Amino acid sequence: MAKENFGIKKLYACNYFFNPGYKKAVESIKLGASDYLEKPLSSEHLAEIVRKYKKKILNTEYGFDETIGTSNLMQEVFGAIKKAAVSESNVLITGESGTGKELVARAIHKWSPRKEKAFVIINCGAIPDTLLESELFGFEKGAFTGANYTKKGLLEFADEGTVFFDEIGDVSTLFQVKILRVLQEGEVMRIGGSKHIKVNLRVISATNRDLETARRRGLFREDLFYRLNVIHIHLPPLRDRKEDIPAIVRHFLEKHSVKRKDMLIKDISDEAMSILMSYDYPGNIRELENIIEHAISFAGGPIIIPSNLPVNLLKTPSQKINPSPKLKEALKNVEKELIWAALQRTGGNISKAAIELGVHRQHLQRKLKSLKYET
Ligand SMILES: Nc1ncnc2c1ncn2[C@@H]1O[C@H](COP(=O)(O)OP(=O)(O)OP(=O)(O)O)[C@@H](O)[C@H]1O
Ligand SMILES: [Mg+2]
Repeated sequence: MAKENFGIKKLYACNYFFNPGYKKAVESIKLGASDYLEKPLSSEHLAEIVRKYKKKILNTEYGFDETIGTSNLMQEVFGAIKKAAVSESNVLITGESGTGKELVARAIHKWSPRKEKAFVIINCGAIPDTLLESELFGFEKGAFTGANYTKKGLLEFADEGTVFFDEIGDVSTLFQVKILRVLQEGEVMRIGGSKHIKVNLRVISATNRDLETARRRGLFREDLFYRLNVIHIHLPPLRDRKEDIPAIVRHFLEKHSVKRKDMLIKDISDEAMSILMSYDYPGNIRELENIIEHAISFAGGPIIIPSNLPVNLLKTPSQKINPSPKLKEALKNVEKELIWAALQRTGGNISKAAIELGVHRQHLQRKLKSLKYET
């Protein structure tokens, strides 16, 4: 792949240019070094420099923090994350399952002035109404049978930090009433308690449901909806931003290749990448991550080839034959299907696949190129 390691290696190589003399330092900067370090080296100074460049790297063209994306759609999301991070307003993150809602919520907290305080995740769908109050508000010792100790609620833990209401679209009416009151009054009371406890919360919520429609139908409280939805960030599905796939694949290769103790899996072939580009990812980035983990486990050499990918990828909806196709489209689908199957059988070897298909290698290569980024 052309863009190796997101440019990190180069940056560090330049940065760690040990140079005692000022003149040499100036020369090295002129030659392209990003910085210079003088001996004796203090660990604080080194840490400061690393922090500085880490921050730069986090804001590269490849994404923001751990959220990778090169598409215009994701650039807009990164802009919104940065704005949300420096604001105290509540944020609603929407998007299909696996699009990165939790990742974005964490990034907002991590880059906000509240970063040193708690980030408390409340998995709304998982708390039954019977446990709601004790989970959210906590209880005093003796409040009910079995309350042998005093317990802080999740909202109290989140004081001065960020509370992340995950799956907010799945909450009961009771849950909605309870959190609305906390947001309005800025205080909680433990079960069995007698005093109100002030809580300073920044709320981020996420849902893969259409909350707007739920609100219009009266299924989600309007007042709560508007309180939660001050800044809205929508994460587009991966199929609408396929240009993000190569950078995300690289990211997951780096992240998961350490799991192979016997071999360093460091790249992916163009053919395998073409297959990844033509799949629709109903499970979005979570599914892509699983695919890369799978491929790393099954790779027989340092480069991932088509046969290392899960078989279902070769049967994508886009490759299935449309029941009422135009002739040109139908022929293209058949062609794609045959090529993918030949590549699968030959472990991604283009020469062998070309022989199987009875075409010249160059012809197959041209075909692959022309089919490469089609969906
Ligand atoms: N843009 C991205 N770059 C890198 N990794 C990503 C990106 N988006 C998501 N991921 C990874 O994909 C996985 C799923 O992300 P996450 O849990 O944030 O999705 P979600 O939208 O909250 O899904 P769900 O609705 O199912 O809870 C995580 O491992 C996350 O780190
Ligand atoms: Mg989630």
